[in-house]
Amino acid sequence: MGSNNINGNVATAVASPNIALVKYWGNEDEKLIIPKNSSVSMTLDEKLSTKTSVVFSGVLKEDLFYINGELQDLSNSEVRERFNVINIMRSAANIDYKVAIVSENSFPSSAGLASSASGISAMVFAANEALELHMNAFELGRIARRGSGSSCRSLMGGFVKWEKGVKSDGSDSSIRQIAPSSHWPEIVDLIAIVSKSKKKVSSRAGMRKTVETSRLYKLRPAFADEACNSIEKAIISKDFDSLAEITMRDSNNMHALMLDTWPPLKYLNDTSFKIIEAIQGLNSSYGKNVAAYTFDAGPNAHIITLKSHIGKVNDALDCISGIEKIIEAGIGNGPRLLHESESIISKYVKI
Ligand code: PMV
Repeated sequence: MGSNNINGNVATAVASPNIALVKYWGNEDEKLIIPKNSSVSMTLDEKLSTKTSVVFSGVLKEDLFYINGELQDLSNSEVRERFNVINIMRSAANIDYKVAIVSENSFPSSAGLASSASGISAMVFAANEALELHMNAFELGRIARRGSGSSCRSLMGGFVKWEKGVKSDGSDSSIRQIAPSSHWPEIVDLIAIVSKSKKKVSSRAGMRKTVETSRLYKLRPAFADEACNSIEKAIISKDFDSLAEITMRDSNNMHALMLDTWPPLKYLNDTSFKIIEAIQGLNSSYGKNVAAYTFDAGPNAHIITLKSHIGKVNDALDCISGIEKIIEAGIGNGPRLLHESESIISKYVKI
């Protein structure tokens, strides 16, 4: 096995996280990561990003995976889940070289922001180049989602839909761009950091428990699929009022199901609820939605708004004591490859 021309090709990519406006929470197929419902997100700009260099080489004796300078333990189950995407790509390329991966986030890992979506999308994007696989975003998405479902949506820019598909082999569960970032550049995500601690129950384990135990869950797939259809229309017509309502109701719905899980999952904290109240208050004082909150599997709030409303949102959040900081991210263009001079591999790996 092994094709010599890829031996030692270093490829570097940068990718950003995405924030789901209609969430993914539950799988039809746990191995292939085929979701129970479609989801819609917006990809963020490079204010928050992960840069990853990848090299497959016959010189390496073992797989090496560094995140923010720390060598990862490949026997740890969460790391293995992420790293599995590399094994899938290695077999697609039909090679058995070991790999070195060096990944760095532009945001501190202590910021309380999940880096799996940007990390995995940067990793598969770079590995695709290093292995000369020439896969497109749809094909890469099918692999990326095995490491983290939501990461597949970061493989495209702008507004992205992850269609659940109908085939049992998952081949039609794929990503599609609803609109590029240039369609609605006024939209922003104000991320209110309220806690820097790592979540106690991972998203993958949490959603599995919800599907298994929540009695309300049976309502979720139809609700979310309907929300995906309506939000797509709101995006196309730039109807912020509707987009905001769908976003907030979908976040509420997912967190209600988390609480209906047995034993219950609680990802929000008191500050998260104060933010919900402040945004609801702000919207009612304007008589329309000028901002929308949404929360993933953690207490940090993503407040989706338009550039012209940033001042109002900041004023509304000003009096909430538990907010540690607010990061402003715009809508972004998806992953890109960097020039070889920007490789970070040699920071930790000598080949
Ligand atoms: O990508 P995962 O497996 O970590 O799941 C993420 C799920 C949510 O962030 C809560 C929702 C979403 O669609 O991003």
